[in-house]
Amino acid sequence: MTQLQQVKKAVAFINKKTKNFKPETALITGSGLAGSIPPLEKKIVISYADIPGFLRSTVPGHSGNLIFGTYKGKKLMIMQGRFHYYEGHPMKDLAISIRTMFLLGVQKLIVSAAVGSLDLKLKPGSLCVLNDHINFMCNNPLIGNHDETFGPMFFDLSEAYDKSLRKVTLDACKKLKINAKEGVYLAATGPNFETPSEIRAFKTLGATVVGMSVVPEVLVARQCGIRVLGLAWVSNMGCGIAKEALSHAQTIRETKKIEGKFKDLLETILPKL
Ligand code: HPA
Repeated sequence: MTQLQQVKKAVAFINKKTKNFKPETALITGSGLAGSIPPLEKKIVISYADIPGFLRSTVPGHSGNLIFGTYKGKKLMIMQGRFHYYEGHPMKDLAISIRTMFLLGVQKLIVSAAVGSLDLKLKPGSLCVLNDHINFMCNNPLIGNHDETFGPMFFDLSEAYDKSLRKVTLDACKKLKINAKEGVYLAATGPNFETPSEIRAFKTLGATVVGMSVVPEVLVARQCGIRVLGLAWVSNMGCGIAKEALSHAQTIRETKKIEGKFKDLLETILPKL
């Protein structure tokens, strides 16, 4: 089966469940951030495991549900829990969920993630509004995975992260007193956290924050013309900058503290996007 056929299968299943609900904005929630979802009207929850052709999430802290509903008139699709390269999914398969969004009619995507910070002005609890990225995964979900349905093979990334969506977010952060700053996301494969030398090298390369997701999703979204807002919540300082050793438990603990702020931010920006 081609990926197009696989995605069409997932879309047909979802359309049947949602009675052809047409989401315009999608949100992907990262580690520990699943509780930030605003209250939705006409909510429909579909488990990833029930969707033919969809992947399953295997990481603690990442529930696996697609949620559909309306918030203040905005039709939303939420991926509660994401898929990571380090889980062992073939890189190509990371395109499936984003291409499903595209065929369902999604035009804007908010990608959220927990990250390590390389910038002393972005302490845990702060938000890095992404303005660019560095793909350090040495792989790409679009390799050997081309179908014109999903956009051109060669496409521009000079503004991968939408300028006007960034502005709405930064303005809202000021209002909500959330410490926020624009910056560059560097994607590493994980699953290990980085070494102190890697963190120093990534800083030299121009990274502001480091994480293990986001980039594959953004590449697939940009190819099919979906506008992207990247929200990277700092759960820890990068290895070597942080005084303590890093752990996933710490990421989850810190993001639990962020959940409320993220919910406030979403409730402020969603009606404006
Ligand atoms: N490195 C990579 N990914 C992460 C980190 C980190 O320090 N914190 C949360 N996700």
